[in-house]
Amino acid sequence: MEVHLLHFPTLDSTNGWAKSHFGELASPNVVTVITTDVQTHGKGRYGRQWVSKPGNLALSLAFTLAGDSPLLPHLAQLLSLVLWEWLYEEGIEAKIKWPNDLLVKGKKLAGILVETFSYQDRIGVVAGIGMNVNAPIELYPESVSLVELLAKQTDLSLLRKQLVHRFLASLERFENDGFAPMRKTLEANLAYRGERVCCQVGEDLFVGTLEGLSTQGALILKTKENRTIHLTSGQITHLRQSG
Ligand code: BTN
Repeated sequence: MEVHLLHFPTLDSTNGWAKSHFGELASPNVVTVITTDVQTHGKGRYGRQWVSKPGNLALSLAFTLAGDSPLLPHLAQLLSLVLWEWLYEEGIEAKIKWPNDLLVKGKKLAGILVETFSYQDRIGVVAGIGMNVNAPIELYPESVSLVELLAKQTDLSLLRKQLVHRFLASLERFENDGFAPMRKTLEANLAYRGERVCCQVGEDLFVGTLEGLSTQGALILKTKENRTIHLTSGQITHLRQSG
């Protein structure tokens, strides 16, 4: 894949910008990387806001895939793994809160927002990564930033380059080896494994013990009634054990 880099001093949202300029960016075998120093209206999953202060990472990858690409259902997990591996090499053992949040000691360090849409005869993908890097967390006790974990500032431009490099390497690995090796690392580092969680899928709530990941990457829950459920999307909440 050819890489085009676009950096802006400020943007409302790197995902938003990538989507509104997609026609100018997209071409098969090209990935455009959009980054900004300051993101004023970052978007999170389920319409939530993503606060990204100066010094933090806001990066979107814009590219197209064939409609039948086997990668499509695994994009968010592939990016989680890219972040997980980078953190691991920095000496940080993160957990992956399925499908695509990175937690350290139970606190959120990074989130991923993958948006897909039809684009000509292909699928357009805008995949955004937000990570708390150099700005200390002030107002959100459920979040953590790299500077608090490493006790030093991280070179953002190097981090961006390393993540893009890892993303390209992961695409190649996926092409060669498929989802199976990815599944193994994802499952081994899933947050709340063996613990009780509630998963919200639309209006429905599923409660059970988080068992792992299926060969397709679905979340496996075992209910109290010993029923096994496979979920392909949703938001999980950790349930504290009672009694
Ligand atoms: C989440 O945790 O809900 C996902 C957060 C994703 C935030 C990133 S920051 C870069 C990109 N641009 C956005 O507006 N959002 C994503």
